[in-house]
Amino acid sequence: MVKPLIEPFSLVLGGSSGIKPYKVRLERRLSDLRGFFHNRRLVEEKLSRGENPKVYEVYEVPQEPVSGHLSLASTVIFPGKVGDEYYFTKGHFHEKEDASEVYIGLEGEGIILMQNREGEVRHLRIGPNVVLYVPPGFAHRTVNVGSSRLVFLAIYPSDAGHDYGSIAETGFAKLVLEREGRPVIVDNPSYSE
Ligand SMILES: [Fe+2]
Repeated sequence: MVKPLIEPFSLVLGGSSGIKPYKVRLERRLSDLRGFFHNRRLVEEKLSRGENPKVYEVYEVPQEPVSGHLSLASTVIFPGKVGDEYYFTKGHFHEKEDASEVYIGLEGEGIILMQNREGEVRHLRIGPNVVLYVPPGFAHRTVNVGSSRLVFLAIYPSDAGHDYGSIAETGFAKLVLEREGRPVIVDNPSYSE
């Protein structure tokens, strides 16, 4: 018989943090995403002018990183762009190759880019009332393509681990850019396998 490590609990969806209560709050500003946006020169110009906007926040209820537990986190991506590229999360593979993830859209309009180790990309819309499944083996990045906050809840194995390095090195094979007021998905010219 496994001794329970924690007591059951519940959370409330909504509000500025997406879930309440949460345990850990992280924020990512433009300076944390250096090298992730395709127009690196524009990022450096903004930073040198003292512009360092908040791109997204994460509100976590993490569990011990042991098999069987699930961690919960809501992410709030602010509306905005660097040039023609919409704000997004860094994106990561799970270190544990068989770890999947579920997203539940709460507010706003977004696109989830998913990419496997072969560089094949899938994309799906996320927004209120959308439940989205990221299978094992796909890196995932969320892009806010709307004019207001994009908020979603993520549920994932607490021992999944986050590999941000692979994406930092290669980028995603596709970019989500604004063209005539609408999001389009185009090949990333600087993607390297
Ligand atoms: Fe994940």
